[in-house]
Amino acid sequence: MALDPSSGVSLYRQLYEQLRKAILDGHLGAGARLPSTRSLAEELAVARNTVMNAYEQLLAEGYLQGETGSGTYVARAVPDALRRAAPVRDQKVHRRKMPALSERGQELARSQMGVRYIDAPRPFRPGTPALDRFPFAAWSRLLAKYWRREPAGLLPYTDPAGYKPLREAVATYVLAVRAVNCSAEQIIVVSGAQQALDVAARLLLDPGDEVWMEEPGYPGARAAFMAAGVKTVAVPIDSAGLNVSEGERLAPKARLAYVTPSHQYPTGVVMTLARRLELLRWAGRKHSWILEDDYDSEYRYASRPVASLQGLDKSGAVIYCGTFSKVLFPSLRLGYLVVPEHLVEAFRRAKAAVDRNCPTVEQAVLAEFIAEGYLARHIRRMRQLYLERQNSLLDDLQQELAGAIEVHSHDAGMHVVGWLAKGLRDVEVSRRALELGVEAPALSSYRARPGGRGGLILGYAAYSEEQMRGAVEKLAIAIGAEQKGTGRK
Ligand SMILES: Cc1ncc(COP(=O)(O)O)c(C=O)c1O
Repeated sequence: MALDPSSGVSLYRQLYEQLRKAILDGHLGAGARLPSTRSLAEELAVARNTVMNAYEQLLAEGYLQGETGSGTYVARAVPDALRRAAPVRDQKVHRRKMPALSERGQELARSQMGVRYIDAPRPFRPGTPALDRFPFAAWSRLLAKYWRREPAGLLPYTDPAGYKPLREAVATYVLAVRAVNCSAEQIIVVSGAQQALDVAARLLLDPGDEVWMEEPGYPGARAAFMAAGVKTVAVPIDSAGLNVSEGERLAPKARLAYVTPSHQYPTGVVMTLARRLELLRWAGRKHSWILEDDYDSEYRYASRPVASLQGLDKSGAVIYCGTFSKVLFPSLRLGYLVVPEHLVEAFRRAKAAVDRNCPTVEQAVLAEFIAEGYLARHIRRMRQLYLERQNSLLDDLQQELAGAIEVHSHDAGMHVVGWLAKGLRDVEVSRRALELGVEAPALSSYRARPGGRGGLILGYAAYSEEQMRGAVEKLAIAIGAEQKGTGRK
């Protein structure tokens, strides 16, 4: 038995694991007497407490029996099946006999969603706000206020639809900012847009139902629909937004259309009013749903925002969702659904079935953060900053990469699309850029089907102008290498 003090695993844990393995492998047979804690400690040159702790854990788990002092033995009751557990190299054989994942489970287990972007953000990873500009002082003051004393009423389970003052604050906010018509009753607080999509999909659709999915489109939505067992049908985006007549041709029986009309993700197209009305007419005629994901519409730089689909809807077909991931920070995991009145109770119960309620103290802090005007002030500041950052990125791209990348300013959002010149493969450019430490996701990776012009999704909100300048230079190297590789100049 050998213990390694530099392994990072405590000595007692190492000893416990080695003894347990010796018992399970049969090297220590049932009834075998273990050395006294004192003598084993001496033999291993460790503190006696280390050995006592390991023995006690094995006694508590039933691998050993006896009293410390009067002798410790390997228990007779360790089940044979456990004792003869297969050596590691045979485990594959056993695993095959274990119950398999469901078909949907196998797809879920392959999902890339949420496992890619978990390290520190670097240019040009999209979707991340300027985290260093978050108003920490105001947020921590509010948080401390709640935690200084027991935050009365906030610690038990709370209303699954959300903390009432937050629902009220959100209702006022979405009416003012997005012309979303609703009462506080219609707001369901959820853990980000991802849960909004999950709950909506499970509540409104049956497995096998067809859904129109924007092509290219948001992988998070595709993942949520896949998890609900529904079938996504890729409907192309044109210069007016989701192409409704193509949708009718490709999937005439679709039960729901998922759209990001304020700023299509990832192309940035704003759905025209005519197209919005066409989509609403389709939903009314077919008794289908529209799921409106308004994830970053707060950041609008030039033209006045087009009214939300929800605000134009007379028939109660639109389910609207918003998130605080972009205006505050993504790990907050707070977002909201605005649902038609007759569905409030159904959504409330579905949310409860999924995870009871969102963290209530954070909801209370957010409600005050909005009510005291901090959110509006933060958004105003970020809008200014992001516009400057977008302009700076466009200038750098123009200087370094004119001819290879075509970019246009986006009226909204936190990223631009860099359209690649013909012949450049976006997946290859993206791979080469990543090797140089630059994240520039390929537009193709947002598509369900191959084809269409290649491009790179370039997030700018979270990065300083210097950081982006350096990253553009590396991007130029990656593109140069791809040009050589494909014989283009
Ligand atoms: C289209 C779209 N919807 C929603 C979100 C936000 O998701 P969540 O609120 O789950 O963080 C994102 C984030 O990148 C997005 O791109």
